[in-house]
Amino acid sequence: MENLNQIESDIFNKIKNAKERESLEVIKTEIFGKKGIITDLFKKVGSLEQDKRKEYASKLNSLKTKVIDSIEKKLSDLDQSEINNKLQNEKIDVTLPGRSYFSGKIHPVSQVIDEVTSIFSEIGFSVEEGPDVENEYYNFSALNTPENHPARDMHDTFYLDLSKDLLLRTHTSPVQIRTMMKSKPPFKIIAPGRTYRHDSDQTHSPMFHQLEGLHIDKNINMGHLKGCLYYFVKKFFEVDKVKIRFRPSHFPFTEPSAEVDIGYKIQDGKIKIGEGDKWLEILGCGMVHPAVLKNAKVNPIQYQGYAFGVGIDRLAMLKYGINDLRAFFENDIRWLEFYGFDPLDIPTNYRGLSR
Ligand code: DAH
Repeated sequence: MENLNQIESDIFNKIKNAKERESLEVIKTEIFGKKGIITDLFKKVGSLEQDKRKEYASKLNSLKTKVIDSIEKKLSDLDQSEINNKLQNEKIDVTLPGRSYFSGKIHPVSQVIDEVTSIFSEIGFSVEEGPDVENEYYNFSALNTPENHPARDMHDTFYLDLSKDLLLRTHTSPVQIRTMMKSKPPFKIIAPGRTYRHDSDQTHSPMFHQLEGLHIDKNINMGHLKGCLYYFVKKFFEVDKVKIRFRPSHFPFTEPSAEVDIGYKIQDGKIKIGEGDKWLEILGCGMVHPAVLKNAKVNPIQYQGYAFGVGIDRLAMLKYGINDLRAFFENDIRWLEFYGFDPLDIPTNYRGLSR
């Protein structure tokens, strides 16, 4: 008769030393397979004498149960230690520096706003802001554009209520009024911001950006306006010489009014700003109308000045060779990756604007 105790301790040692599920499966077959150790022991029961048979069989049965329990336990221990291993090896050290990261880009419109702000702040302009949702008064009436004035039609206004009092501002000019109403002259401000008109094609978007300029003081004349705009255009396009043309025009809020064109030519399929015999309109300007000053509680006998309004998106298109305005607002990450700017490269007058 075999020594069951010896067999038992051999089996438990085997189970104990199993390192992974697969080897435990092999051990299981060695014990319970067709020719397994315990299977063999059971086969021998029949050949035993009657009186020993019962006792031996019951010993074997309890050994079998113990071995099965022990295998079950070992399996769950192996599973647990596998999970622990994984947790140990796959843990993330959040204090390590990143290896792959995506750096964002500055949108050309934001870049141009930073550039123009930098240019104008160097000659004493400060930055003002106004709301996108305006009253009819600030957007039109105070700017000498009374109801039924034909200029209102040209603005394709988005009205926000039936009484046509609330609207999305159609230009940044209302910031002129708001600025003048809240303090005393002199004023020397620019106001960049979003503007809205019911218009959409390759060169128009229902939301676009403008830059307003306003300079009010004693004895300001058209010469100052021209000087300021020459300075701005040269700085912005980063050229030494630039051809500019002032064309008589009409805006209700300026008298006289002008539109400004800059000279350009196409060279090797690229636009070259500042020279050549083609003209491109870039802004509207003029001497602020006395009625506008009066509406904003400024005495037009004592104070005069000029104002101008530039399309920021237009400037960005010209400077950076972008030919479809709609792409600005489509949020295509590939477009931004190509046309965007390094966030750490902040435009300054002394370091250069766009390089
Ligand atoms: N507000 C005008 C527009 O959107 C642009 C403009 C023209 C602004 C002349 C001015 C100005 O300040 O003096 O069409």
